[in-house]
Amino acid sequence: MTVVLSEAAEARLREIIASYPQAKSAVMPALFIAQEELGWVSDEAIEWVAQRTGAAPAHVRSVASFYTMYYKRPVGKYHIQLCRTLSCAVCGGKELLSCLRERFGVAPGEVTANGMWSFEEVECLGSCGTGPVAQINDVYFERLDAAKLEELIRRIEEEQPDLRYSTVKKELGGGLADRPRSAVWK
Ligand code: FES
Repeated sequence: MTVVLSEAAEARLREIIASYPQAKSAVMPALFIAQEELGWVSDEAIEWVAQRTGAAPAHVRSVASFYTMYYKRPVGKYHIQLCRTLSCAVCGGKELLSCLRERFGVAPGEVTANGMWSFEEVECLGSCGTGPVAQINDVYFERLDAAKLEELIRRIEEEQPDLRYSTVKKELGGGLADRPRSAVWK
């Protein structure tokens, strides 16, 4: 089945493609656009990216499968990516995974019944000096521990903030009221 993305998405991708010598170079931003519009990178999203960039579907799939920022299955409204690599792990990252399992009652990769939450472990998020780190949608939360993570989840449930970066509109979401973008918890 062919997917239909918004004209704004199509226009943004045309703009991005025009900035590269070859359309194939736009596979990664095209995947972000598809994910933003469709919620995850489905087979149809792969096909859309391949058609628009001229890259082989197998190549598009290999790019999507390599990077954890592309969701290969449906995720919750808030998707938590918890770093499991060394610096975060030795600072308590492992404990945070147990907290998420208990808090949501689902396994990594599953979505809570209300559609609000999902989580997974990922490799280094590139912020090793401020671990443990979790990326929720497109926003980093750093120096977490179990209590801070619980407070963060409570605040997100209460405020329902926009934690996404829009590739189509080129906009960052507003974030939490007092922590608009990234949050290093003291
Ligand atoms: S080890 Fe966690 S961000 Fe690098």
